[in-house]
Amino acid sequence: MISVLVAALTATITTLGQVAATTGDGALSNVIAPAIAITAPAKRDGASLNLANFGGGAFFTAISLGTPPQTFNVLVDTGSDWLWVPGVKCMASCSNTSSLFNTSASATFSYLNGSAQQGTLAYGLGSVKGAPARDNLTWGPVTLPNVSFYLVDYEDEPMKRQNTGFGDGILGLAFLGGNVSADHSIVQLMTAKNQLPSGIFSIWLNQSSSFDSDDSVDKHGGRMVFGGADPTLYDGNFTFIPVIRVVSVPDYFWGVSLGPVGVKGMLAGSNMDKFKYNAQGYYSVDCKLAETFPDITFVLGGNPFTLTVTDYVGSDGKTCSMGIGTLAGMDKWIIGDIFLYKYYSVYDVKHKQVGFALASNGTVSGHGLPLTDSILAQGGGSGFGTIPTPSNVANRHSWLFRFC
Ligand SMILES: *[C@@H]1O[C@H](CO)[C@@H](O)[C@H](O)[C@H]1NC(C)=O
Ligand SMILES: *[C@@H]1O[C@H](CO)[C@@H](O)[C@H](O)[C@H]1NC(C)=O
Ligand SMILES: *[C@@H]1O[C@H](CO)[C@@H](O)[C@H](O)[C@H]1NC(C)=O
Ligand SMILES: *[C@@H]1O[C@H](CO)[C@@H](O)[C@H](O)[C@H]1NC(C)=O
Ligand SMILES: *[C@@H]1O[C@H](CO)[C@@H](O)[C@H](O)[C@H]1NC(C)=O
Ligand SMILES: *[C@@H]1O[C@H](CO)[C@@H](O)[C@H](O)[C@H]1NC(C)=O
Ligand SMILES: *[C@@H]1O[C@H](CO)[C@@H](O)[C@H](O)[C@H]1NC(C)=O
Ligand SMILES: *[C@@H]1O[C@H](CO)[C@@H](O)[C@H](O)[C@H]1NC(C)=O
Ligand SMILES: *[C@@H]1O[C@H](CO)[C@@H](O)[C@H](O)[C@H]1NC(C)=O
Repeated sequence: MISVLVAALTATITTLGQVAATTGDGALSNVIAPAIAITAPAKRDGASLNLANFGGGAFFTAISLGTPPQTFNVLVDTGSDWLWVPGVKCMASCSNTSSLFNTSASATFSYLNGSAQQGTLAYGLGSVKGAPARDNLTWGPVTLPNVSFYLVDYEDEPMKRQNTGFGDGILGLAFLGGNVSADHSIVQLMTAKNQLPSGIFSIWLNQSSSFDSDDSVDKHGGRMVFGGADPTLYDGNFTFIPVIRVVSVPDYFWGVSLGPVGVKGMLAGSNMDKFKYNAQGYYSVDCKLAETFPDITFVLGGNPFTLTVTDYVGSDGKTCSMGIGTLAGMDKWIIGDIFLYKYYSVYDVKHKQVGFALASNGTVSGHGLPLTDSILAQGGGSGFGTIPTPSNVANRHSWLFRFC
């Protein structure tokens, strides 16, 4: 049986326009629209954008749609494929703090299949309904005419709650493996229209703003680089791992094959009753018990990637929760922001691979080895040779799944 790691920034999943979804951490979030400015160009051809962290673990970017542009804060979600924003018709059934798209105020707006066609996008936490539409999109350095998106006129209660305060919609950045007929995929469109130099984007998450209080926004919560990677935000080399088919839709996710998982010591053992599955899809765990938890090492592309308990257990000061989950009924791990805080990630459309390098914490400059086209073409990579191979190698079924 293949074990798989899905590097999902926010672990929401939707199938192509159909309802069927679950989530590992699904914490979308809330408060006041910040103007998220493009910062100085980073590495190579790449332009760099700040991501806003809301509530510790949900990352937002600003996009605009229409002519003249109307601006929205959208959740960056590498685990789903559609872009959606709420429309003015959603006044009553969307979050009261959302910006609403006004179709009459855009000269370039059109419905994809007429205003009568409705569709549902379902996520692990929450779902929305609306009409498929088209308009021009601007996102940092990216401008794409006539992009397909959902103009939403209904958010269910969980989605509404999650969006109250800060978020307006969701920007799906799932892989969709070179499926050019999926012209709603921003990732594919950017690549096809040569707006993603080298066919890559990369993400750094700011450890200083992780596990923040529930309703605060940090405008410097992370960084997204289009067409490059910023060597001041990682150390050493990347390890690249080929994207594999994770669900029935080929190459839908940025999913990779997971090797052995090493745990030095017992994670749950006889303490399974101390783990409580909560409504948000997390396991909460006794903070005192968590102090005894071992390092967990994931082997990816033949290289060990280790998370310590401070990486994978979060605390809001009162309760502690596991940052690793699985999807009910699926043979998958979802390893989202906790992994991505520790490891800078690169998403390579052209070579169908994901790369990880040890992230710098952003307070001191990283010493990353610059990423070049030949390194991308070569793939693989030595990564983190100095991290010892775990002594005690366990399959995930022997531990994490036991308390699912
Ligand atoms: C929006 O709704 C929430 C409850 O869902 C409420 O607490 C808040 O005061 C409302 N805000 C505004 C601006 O109406
Ligand atoms: C939408 O835009 C039109 C044209 O600019 C304007 O007349 C209308 O008041 C706007 N509607 C809302 C709800 O803002
Ligand atoms: C639009 O309509 C076409 C033709 O009926 C259909 O194939 C397509 O799936 C529809 N698009 C969406 C996003 O629902
Ligand atoms: C929007 O896209 C159309 C092509 O679909 C283009 O003619 C128009 O100039 C674009 N508008 C903006 C504001 O970029
Ligand atoms: C947008 O794309 C659709 C479908 O390809 C096409 O029918 C329509 O003419 C396009 N609109 C513009 C303004 O390019
Ligand atoms: C490509 O995308 C289209 C539109 O979303 C979908 O109908 C089709 O099944 C996809 N093809 C593959 C091979 O995934
Ligand atoms: C990381 O977050 C801290 C706290 O908000 C901020 O002071 C710092 O500038 C951020 N770092 C970067 C590189 O954005
Ligand atoms: C990084 O990769 C380069 C080129 O493949 C190699 O020469 C170098 O030894 C690697 N450095 C480390 C620290 O792995
Ligand atoms: C950031 O990393 C540097 C180098 O590893 C370390 O010296 C520093 O204490 C770290 N700062 C924080 C806030 O973790």
